[in-house]
Amino acid sequence: MSRLIVVSNRVTLPQKSGDAPAGGLAVALQAALEERGGIWMGWSGKSSGAKEPAPLSMQEHGNITYALTDLTKTDVEEYYHGFANRVLWPLCHYRMDLADYGRKEMAGYFRVNRFFAHRLAPLIQEDDVIWVHDYHLIPLAAELRQMGLKNKIGFFLHIPWPPADVLFTMPVHEEIMRGLSHYDLVGFQTDHDLDNFGGGLVREGIGQRLSEGKFSSYGRVFKGGHYAISIETEQFAAFAQKAASNVMVRKAKQSVEGRDMIIGVDRLDYSKGITQRLDAFERFITMNPGYQNKVTYLQITPKSRSEVPEYEQMQRTVAEQAGRVNGAIGTVDWVPVRYINQSIARPVLAGLYRLSRIGLVTPLRDGMNLVAKEYVAAQDPENPGVLVLSRFAGAARELSGALLVNPYDIEGTAHAIARGLTMSLEERKQRWERMMEHLKVYDINRWCDDFLKDLTTG
Ligand code: UDP
Ligand code: G6P
Repeated sequence: MSRLIVVSNRVTLPQKSGDAPAGGLAVALQAALEERGGIWMGWSGKSSGAKEPAPLSMQEHGNITYALTDLTKTDVEEYYHGFANRVLWPLCHYRMDLADYGRKEMAGYFRVNRFFAHRLAPLIQEDDVIWVHDYHLIPLAAELRQMGLKNKIGFFLHIPWPPADVLFTMPVHEEIMRGLSHYDLVGFQTDHDLDNFGGGLVREGIGQRLSEGKFSSYGRVFKGGHYAISIETEQFAAFAQKAASNVMVRKAKQSVEGRDMIIGVDRLDYSKGITQRLDAFERFITMNPGYQNKVTYLQITPKSRSEVPEYEQMQRTVAEQAGRVNGAIGTVDWVPVRYINQSIARPVLAGLYRLSRIGLVTPLRDGMNLVAKEYVAAQDPENPGVLVLSRFAGAARELSGALLVNPYDIEGTAHAIARGLTMSLEERKQRWERMMEHLKVYDINRWCDDFLKDLTTG
């Protein structure tokens, strides 16, 4: 097979086990590239006040060559904090109210994409296959084509794609749609996202659906498909089995003192529905006072994008709310909510998932949500827990054994928690087996193979 070049804004160098990368993209790409080898290009995470960032830093680890670029402070401000995380992220998560357009940020976004193209081009050989990831880099293919590149270029969007009525509130929606047409294959997480994309294209008269999975727009013909991102299922299950002896997992087990544990794991992001989830947990206790002192809710929430005002605000809101709920329902010998703001390494997370009777995954909108899949993979086959999952997560379209909830319906989520805690072992096993069988087939390698096959054939 040809050499693979992966490009993403976030690149994560192999970690010491304590420094886990939080975020589905980094986790999935690491697993996919470890298997195949290739080049991974992206932002180093560093910025400088210099006018022109230092040359690419090339580092080899195993069969992956990392090509890292710094950015200027202005680039980070306009491209990453500005347009990517204050326009595209909220819009793609259906939050028009949070999108904050500015011409400067839009210009910065397109400028940094051009910069990435100029840094990447010298690395590319004739039959390399290029795979670009996520909303930060939509215009990258157009820039590379402008430089005369004819290679196969694929794009995968890790987050949801909204309907045209939402997307088209963005002043530069045309440029974004045009940018996508320069890829050979545009991949989304679910059929729903693909429908939103195709539907918008046709309805707004920008392009046509030529056949199943084939589109034309702006004079170009390209493929579109859906590819559910996943996890390294068997390896994660093995982590969970081993983690019983991990010190942190043992301490967690001792400290819950025989109570049932409920777990939530999310970057601190407004799309994750954390405040609604805390409300639902409180409601569950007030509706079922018999559970007082019998259950502990562990919420692991590493900080994310703290320089973006909406995220900074979230940090305060969630911390206050966790404190308020503990104040309202806690007792002298029981702290109902344990709220942790640190990133935990995935092998340890695996052990914590396995200890937990319920995995509470209730985003208001999510492209996929790998935590939901990890929770399933980590369970003890003889005594599996219950996944309570938002119907608005991409994972809900696959994990049919979960208890699906509408995260805006606080009482409904509270009922699902109660149902999860009282579910019979037989039903838990049946539900879990269905999901685990699916995840064994549809794992991270399957995602990668399916996408690359569609990109490189036809
Ligand atoms: N994660 C982690 N440590 C943490 C919290 C999360 O390693 O403390 C990982 C988690 O195991 C999962 C990823 O970050 O693999 C989160 O991916 P998901 O798709 O659920 O959400 P995203 O952050 O991409 O929106
Ligand atoms: C989501 C996005 C990724 C992003 C990750 C962490 O998973 O789809 O592109 O890398 O969140 O966010 P950050 O801004 O820290 O890279």
